[in-house]
Amino acid sequence: MKAGVFDSGVGGLTVLKSLLENQTFEEIIYYGDTARVPYGTKDKNTIIRYSLEALEYFENYDIDILIVACNSASAHALNALKDVASIPVIGVIDSGILAVQSKIQDKNSNILVIGTTATIGSNLYEIGLKDEEFTNITSIATPLFVPLVEEGILDGDILDATLEYYFKDLSKIDTVILGCTHFPLLEKKISSYLNDAITIHSGDSIVQFLENEYNCTNKYETTSIKFFASSNPDGLKQTAKNWLGKLL
Ligand code: DGL
Repeated sequence: MKAGVFDSGVGGLTVLKSLLENQTFEEIIYYGDTARVPYGTKDKNTIIRYSLEALEYFENYDIDILIVACNSASAHALNALKDVASIPVIGVIDSGILAVQSKIQDKNSNILVIGTTATIGSNLYEIGLKDEEFTNITSIATPLFVPLVEEGILDGDILDATLEYYFKDLSKIDTVILGCTHFPLLEKKISSYLNDAITIHSGDSIVQFLENEYNCTNKYETTSIKFFASSNPDGLKQTAKNWLGKLL
């Protein structure tokens, strides 16, 4: 089976990592819209336009399924993509909500959703969780984590100050949804700041979702991957080497 993985830039490599660890696909085409990242600061119509253009890009590669790794695009463009695509298109928000359902039994658990301004502005995680009868949900846009990860600032004073800036006024959090492609790289730091809160990771959630909803249970010994980017493809490939190491 051949999948397309679409992200606004390099962040979707965290989702690719989960797909590779679980040997879900035989072939993956990764496309990062690095020329126009970030999507998380853009409005809905712009995110839809960029995402539809990315879909056109994938038309050259005959994929069987498109995975929208980007939370911001999943939040705003998933329906527009589904409307025009001739293949299944799946985003990371429904799968994240399902992951919460399967991991968290207590509907009064304190859940924190973090993501870009666009993702949090869509309110989709919160609406989906409330539909599943979770009652205590707090959502915060934490866009500063995106450039920190891109700069390789994964610990130290600047990160600590950013954690403090966003989270200092929160009362107890039991579970945190890492609603942005970049945040898994800060997973331990975020969880530890929040007193070891359980983390929900888009990549792991999507693997589970693919198994449950799309019967993607085959395990492929090897996966052939092609990387494409709308700007600086060598930079994307280098980041892939840094983040995915031996998986490539
Ligand atoms: N990929 C984006 C997301 O998951 C983060 C980077 C951006 O803002 O484009 O929302």
